[in-house]
Amino acid sequence: MPSGISNIAYLGASALFILSLSGLSHPATAKRGNLLGIAGMAIAILTTVLAGSPDGVPIIIGAMVLGAAAGAMLARRVEMTQMPELVAVLHSFVGLAAVLVGYANYLDSHALSGAEKAIHEVETYLGILIGAVTFTGSVIAFLKLRGTLGGKPTLLPGRHMLNALALAACVVLGYQFLDAASAQDGLVPLGVMTVIALLVGAHLVAAIGGADMPVVVSMLNSYSGWAAAATGFMLGNDLLIITGALVGSSGAILSYIMCKAMNRKFLSVILGGFGATQAKGAATEQGEVLPVSSDEVSALLKDANEVIIVPGYGMAVAQAQGTISEIARRLRAQGINVRFGIHPVAGRLPGHMNVLLAEARVPYDIVLEMEEINDDFEHADVVLVVGANDIVNPGALEDPASPIAGMPVLEVWKARTVVVSKRSMAAGYAGVDNPLFYKENTRMWFGDAKGSVDALLRQLEEVPA
Ligand code: TAP
Repeated sequence: MPSGISNIAYLGASALFILSLSGLSHPATAKRGNLLGIAGMAIAILTTVLAGSPDGVPIIIGAMVLGAAAGAMLARRVEMTQMPELVAVLHSFVGLAAVLVGYANYLDSHALSGAEKAIHEVETYLGILIGAVTFTGSVIAFLKLRGTLGGKPTLLPGRHMLNALALAACVVLGYQFLDAASAQDGLVPLGVMTVIALLVGAHLVAAIGGADMPVVVSMLNSYSGWAAAATGFMLGNDLLIITGALVGSSGAILSYIMCKAMNRKFLSVILGGFGATQAKGAATEQGEVLPVSSDEVSALLKDANEVIIVPGYGMAVAQAQGTISEIARRLRAQGINVRFGIHPVAGRLPGHMNVLLAEARVPYDIVLEMEEINDDFEHADVVLVVGANDIVNPGALEDPASPIAGMPVLEVWKARTVVVSKRSMAAGYAGVDNPLFYKENTRMWFGDAKGSVDALLRQLEEVPA
């Protein structure tokens, strides 16, 4: 394919990716955003295949068929609650690809010399470095999100010194790599740096506690973008540079937004708790727990004028969003003002709750963000907390020793009555006890959220809507 045509196709694909990102910023336009992204990716793949040497086409097609089959199988099997783990695995693939492409590119003979050769080697070195950190960081994030590794941070003694030493070693090895007389000689510093970068990636993410995992997910998203951009520089592929930069910068912006939402310092999170105190979990609150039945919840709701529903990770686990949407519809039909309050880190993915509620056809205008609804809890008659825990924990505001201290939360306890649907008194993702469960105006509605809300809907149906 002539380079002029491939450049135009790449430009078109880049424009489609930008439009796709803008579409994905709102649930109402997310579907269109996805379609634009798919179209951009189809153009990108086709152009890359046609622009390359025809000899490679059968191998590329074979790899694509295998990849597409694995992707289709995963997409069918993966539950919505496993999406964060899947995203972490996909980030690790981008990191691994950057490392492998970097080595292949380095070992491929290039007729470069002088400044051109030096620039190319710096690109290769940085691409492999970022890729290796992304790879092991994402694997550890995957294991943490899956629950295979606990949410507690692994804090090695002198960990910041270790990180600083590793960084210094990578700089020295980089000089040796650029100075190497032959590709063979350059492999030694490159190999040592790769091992160090792999260890740093694992160490950085292992040192981040469960409560800060949302930032890790978006941060690794950003790293994977920069790794792809570095690969684009290595291969001289403009589209990969643009796409990588888009993913890298949008991931960085998302990490910043997450940090703001959680009242965390970005640098302190990515450096594995740098500057953070060694906080202990809040002491177990002793107090009375008041259980409630579905009949009683139904009676409370029928008497209410203002109801706010706060969904959390447990709603996703239970797949209760459809029934909750129907409950909201029925209550609204009876003249009760029902709204949803969404915390920015509810669930396990940015926008997790918004996606589930959109899928269950809850109208967008009654789904409000934390800062839009937090002042309204004091006027609510009933707040229905469905499978949420950390995001409604008053300890975040009241207990400076809590691992989630300082994180803004939905202040549900200000309502007249709070009903919490969950299966037990177990802690949430951050592993912290929740004083909300012992408050006088809180009622614990024990059981699987789907079973509970199904029973509630049946109760409500006894009154004509
Ligand atoms: P969590 O604090 O994880 O609490 C969820 C609660 O749901 C649990 O306490 C659990 O209690 C309950 N639950 C689980 N399955 C249930 C079921 N089938 N029926 C009823 N209840 C069920 O969730 P959250 O309040 O949404 O907060 C999110 C947490 O995840 C935050 O700590 C956040 O930092 C972290 N995180 C978020 C993200 C993003 S980007 N959103 C990414 C990684 C981590 P029982 O076991 O007693 O039922």
